Amino acid sequence: MGEERVAVITGAAQGIGRRTAEVLAEEGYLLAVIDRQPVTGFEALSFVGDVSDEADVQRFVAAVEARYGRADVLVNNAGIASIAPAEDTTAEQWRRVLDVNLTGPFLLCQAFGRRMLVRGTGSIVNIASVAGLMGVADRVAYNTSKHGLIGLTRTLAVEWGGRGVRVNAVCPGWVKTEMDDESQSSGAYVDTDITEHVPMARFAQPDDIARAVAFLADPARSGFVNGTALPVDGGWAADGSWQSLRLSARSRA
Ligand SMILES: NC(=O)c1ccc[n+]([C@@H]2O[C@H](COP(=O)([O-])OP(=O)(O)OC[C@H]3O[C@@H](n4cnc5c(N)ncnc54)[C@H](O)[C@@H]3O)[C@@H](O)[C@H]2O)c1
Repeated sequence: MGEERVAVITGAAQGIGRRTAEVLAEEGYLLAVIDRQPVTGFEALSFVGDVSDEADVQRFVAAVEARYGRADVLVNNAGIASIAPAEDTTAEQWRRVLDVNLTGPFLLCQAFGRRMLVRGTGSIVNIASVAGLMGVADRVAYNTSKHGLIGLTRTLAVEWGGRGVRVNAVCPGWVKTEMDDESQSSGAYVDTDITEHVPMARFAQPDDIARAVAFLADPARSGFVNGTALPVDGGWAADGSWQSLRLSARSRA
């Protein structure tokens, strides 16, 4: 093995995870990916499994160790959406979303973090959401999982930062991916609901999120950034305007 850095990415078969894999590969990282569906189209150690399943995570970690001997970067990206009024959300839906979006990242942080702590270096990036920073109606399990993921990020950052392992989160706004297609096909919202609310008047593209991940992954660019939850949302989380003010501010000459 040469000096190439190794990045582990969950949920890399499509969407944000896939674009993150492509961007990190362009930056020279060797890749290991886990997804519940097969990952094709780029070179990587590819493992089909469920991030919320402890046995799958252990087998994946062992495969990464056997192939590369280490991981420099872990990106916890795999996640699922769930749209339903709080009063109609079942315990089963709640548990599944918390399992995938929060317990999965915990298991992966713990497994790879232990090894990073031994080596005294590493960067973990958790893909949270603006729904981890504020309430968005009809997403009680999802919002709670993402608020929890930011709590996990901050806690690990303070426990592990002094031992060389940085832990940060990225909080995307609405991103054009298969997840968005699926959510919109249920009739939950349409494009203009989002674009009229975002100060920058557009959806994020997976590339916008991947570039922020690459920044946080790289100690040369973000070596003293630890424990942050970075919105990549075109200004959504900063905006306290009411709707007519937001739209008039956007169209001023
Ligand atoms: N799309 C958005 O608008 C948006 C906004 C904010 C945050 N996010 C977050 O970004 C992340 C990626 O979202 P996306 O839009 O690319 O989603 P996506 O649904 O397009 O892709 C998610 C990927 O994760 C995989 N995955 C799902 N559950 C898994 C599991 N249990 N084990 C292994 N792999 C699993 C899927 O197979 C898929 O390849 C998610 O955590 C999501 O919550 C997305």
